[in-house]
Amino acid sequence: MSPKDSKRNDAYNQLEAGSKRATPLQHQRAAEIQPFGKVTRMPIALDEKIRAASAENLNQLLADTMTLRDMYKKHHWQVAGHTFYQLHLLFDKHHGEQDELVDEIAERIQLLGGISLAMAADVAETTMIPRPPRGREEVPVQISRLLEGHELILKEARTMAKQATDAGDDGTNDLLVSNVIRTNELQVWFLAEHLVDVPVVRADEKAASAGH
Ligand SMILES: [Fe+2]
Repeated sequence: MSPKDSKRNDAYNQLEAGSKRATPLQHQRAAEIQPFGKVTRMPIALDEKIRAASAENLNQLLADTMTLRDMYKKHHWQVAGHTFYQLHLLFDKHHGEQDELVDEIAERIQLLGGISLAMAADVAETTMIPRPPRGREEVPVQISRLLEGHELILKEARTMAKQATDAGDDGTNDLLVSNVIRTNELQVWFLAEHLVDVPVVRADEKAASAGH
């Protein structure tokens, strides 16, 4: 090693000297500051039992909404056939709207003092929407699965909305009715019309003359 190289090496070896306080402190771990299932005190004039019950309900709804949202993306990617383009776009639009609901539900759980489910493994353990296969499915099957997911969510959201109203948690009731229920109902309509078996080009004269 030449004297010049040796001098440069010494300089390189000291490059981090004096920068300790500016160095990121990585790989840190500590105990949780709040266990899952517990609620913190939150000054919104609602009893802790009411806030805990709403947070628990909303976490179930959150897991199901995240699952439906992700199923929309699966179908957005995997859709096939002559309606590919319109369904590719529609599935992505609904995915985006479900993603907004996910954020609204999760943030309501936090403001109630609860803890929102977040990670895929926890969502998979919690959701009640049946898991679809990894492979591609036909359009009518894709739409049927989505409709079943929507109906499950609508059923639980209506039950939870009533519970929230009975308990005096008007904010949760409003989120469920104005956002969750209204959005899901509208998306069901847009999906369900795709499963009406009507002719595309030639009218069904036989059905017309038979009075159907
Ligand atoms: Fe895309």
